[in-house]
Amino acid sequence: MGLQLAVVLERGIGSAQLRVEDDDDDGDGDSEEDKSYYEHYKPKSTANDQPSAALVIDGKLIADEIRFRIAEQVRRMKGSVGKVPGLAVILVGDRRDSLTYVRNKVKACEDAGIKSLVTQFPQNCKQDDVIHALSTFNEDPSIHGILVQLPLPQHLNEEKILNELKLEKDVDGFHPLNMGNLAMRGREPLFIPCTPKGCIELLIRSGVEIMGKNAVVIGRSNIVGLPTSLLLQRHHATVTIVHALTKNPEQITREADIVVTAAGVPNLVRGNWLKPGAVVIDVGTFPVEDPSCENGYRLIGDVCYEEASKVASAITPVPGGVGPMTIAMLLSNTLDSAKRAYDFT
Ligand code: GUN
Repeated sequence: MGLQLAVVLERGIGSAQLRVEDDDDDGDGDSEEDKSYYEHYKPKSTANDQPSAALVIDGKLIADEIRFRIAEQVRRMKGSVGKVPGLAVILVGDRRDSLTYVRNKVKACEDAGIKSLVTQFPQNCKQDDVIHALSTFNEDPSIHGILVQLPLPQHLNEEKILNELKLEKDVDGFHPLNMGNLAMRGREPLFIPCTPKGCIELLIRSGVEIMGKNAVVIGRSNIVGLPTSLLLQRHHATVTIVHALTKNPEQITREADIVVTAAGVPNLVRGNWLKPGAVVIDVGTFPVEDPSCENGYRLIGDVCYEEASKVASAITPVPGGVGPMTIAMLLSNTLDSAKRAYDFT
């Protein structure tokens, strides 16, 4: 078992239960620079001693259900068109987290009957080699989705590389045209970025009304914070973005009915940052040493779960909340792309 295998403390109403989790959580947050600013805001003491009341939003369960339905549709596509969706992944270097994410994505494709190809380049590879691989996948009709695992090494120009991606295969939704269409009223992006789409799906499937609600998104990364705020607006929430330079982030966050955190700072959001009854979606994932765990590690999020679960009405755990949804949404985007390519409904 690797670092990503964590013993999870799942908290329910007045109960706690140990579960072994083998699905590492995908996630992303703000830049290193932003993170150091957030440190300034960390309160020094814990605030809340009330009994636990929050509904635990089980992302693993919801993602499993979505993946089951996707597998059904892939079988149907194979039966009627004789083809399956195909996903190509480009991985540069050997970052441990990226390797884990890619391994989990490939495994999920396999489970759903989706073909996957991984091209891995060494850390010091040339940009032209990455672009060449991308162009090959762009032209391959059996590939419907292409994913460049981020972050890329410093010497590579992420913008230039992502611009090469064929819009119709941008299953991450990171292409500026997809992001631009997501931002504009009356326009439809071909793909919505996976983690933000997963967050909204969790809210909807948990019966949380978004329309007319005050939502705060903490973090403004291109991968999570920005597209999540755009997507919440599309669902008619009133959205405020809290970032590293925001004054009084606790005060602003306390106004929110829905809080989505993608700051990349462990335990940033304490119980006293939340309005009682708020719904909390935690995108953060960090391994922390814990000798009491089987493998010496456990994962924690941006939110101080112990405190927040006593104030919120519903909350995602880490792991087992947003992470599994990111992968489910990647499969969903890849299937949608193949459906478009084969005119299959
Ligand atoms: N790195 C962290 N999250 C993601 C993601 O959703 N997609 C890609 N391509 N890279 C990531």
